[in-house]
Amino acid sequence: MNSQQWIEKSDKYIMKTYGRYPIVPIRGKGCTLWDVDGNEFLDFLGGVAVNNLGHCHPRVVAALQKQAAELLHCSNYYQIPQQIELAELLCSHSFADKAFFCNSGAEANEAAIKLARKYSREKFGADRYEIITAADSFHGRTMATVSATGQEKVQRFFDPLLHGFTHVPFNDVAAMEAAVTPASCAIMLEPIQGEGGVNVPSADYFREIRRICDKHNLLLIFDEVQVGMGRTGTLFAYEHFDVVPDIMTLAKALAGGAPIGAMLARDEVASAFTPGTHGSTFGGNPLVCAAAVATVRTILEEGILNHTEEIGEYLVGELEALGKKYSFVKEVRGIGLMIGMGLTIPAGDIVKKGHERGVLLNVVHDTVLRFVPPLVVTKQEINRMIAILDGIFAEIEV
Ligand SMILES: Cc1ncc(COP(=O)(O)O)c(C=O)c1O
Repeated sequence: MNSQQWIEKSDKYIMKTYGRYPIVPIRGKGCTLWDVDGNEFLDFLGGVAVNNLGHCHPRVVAALQKQAAELLHCSNYYQIPQQIELAELLCSHSFADKAFFCNSGAEANEAAIKLARKYSREKFGADRYEIITAADSFHGRTMATVSATGQEKVQRFFDPLLHGFTHVPFNDVAAMEAAVTPASCAIMLEPIQGEGGVNVPSADYFREIRRICDKHNLLLIFDEVQVGMGRTGTLFAYEHFDVVPDIMTLAKALAGGAPIGAMLARDEVASAFTPGTHGSTFGGNPLVCAAAVATVRTILEEGILNHTEEIGEYLVGELEALGKKYSFVKEVRGIGLMIGMGLTIPAGDIVKKGHERGVLLNVVHDTVLRFVPPLVVTKQEINRMIAILDGIFAEIEV
């Protein structure tokens, strides 16, 4: 079947939850995707910050193939060596002591919300349940994470939302301080907002947030679903901000493209989860954990973090140089390969033209081009993308 035939079948059978582009990828390697008609695309979206090691990284593929032949799934009623190994890897490279595994970013945040509430009610009383999050944040599509998300377009149609979430402007310490009430139990933030427009906070923002948490005995939850796993040039984004959270959530890139979520916490906080208080049938199963162990080891052992820092600076430099030529480019911002280019015009048509010319681009918040390519992207691939973007920009009349 060709693209058109797949699209017709999709229209017939798939619910319309996504505004899908007319591209049908069937094969990937590194930063390149091929569609069913044989077209080649340079991938600067990386499955939305999932394919950090590029498509079909050989170590991830080998781990999946080996594990699939040995044991695909086994219940969390039993001990799972691949899960234990993954937990040890993540804890030994972060602030955390314990891990819980699930299947997505939203589920990881659900787990964090439940843990924060249970810990706080047991330690401080049943009236401590409120979680403060940021305007323009994105935490997922389940009811609790939709309630935590600070975007009306995500919440619309789903009233009544879950009680106990307050939203304040991101990067505004005074607003955060003013939002704390005797009912507050946690502050939940993305270190860099992704879906909200690649918003990087000022250097001391998180130090101030940590101070507020310590003053009021609030838990600090970092949602690193998008920015974790090397995306910013460190394994976890919080390492850039001179603070440690109490709870951190991961998903997306953790298993190199296999579906996984994780929630990590300090021992004292983690101990609030006791048998029967939370769980997941598939969470942390042997297959996905084998892929995640291979992914984390590859990131740590193959110089991926240094490369991300260097190549991220190169991409920012090239985007800034391009931006100087066009009045509709406002700014380039980001850390590592978590990069946004703010425009004064909507970016939807730019993305479509990118597809026609063989590059997968992405727009968030209507006017921000977001660049989250695989961390293994090369200078040559960046140069090709920049040349295509330059050609598209040159045709824009403002
Ligand atoms: C920061 C952040 N948190 C949570 C999520 C939800 O993750 P998932 O789609 O895996 O449920 C996303 C997804 O984009 C995200 O960017």
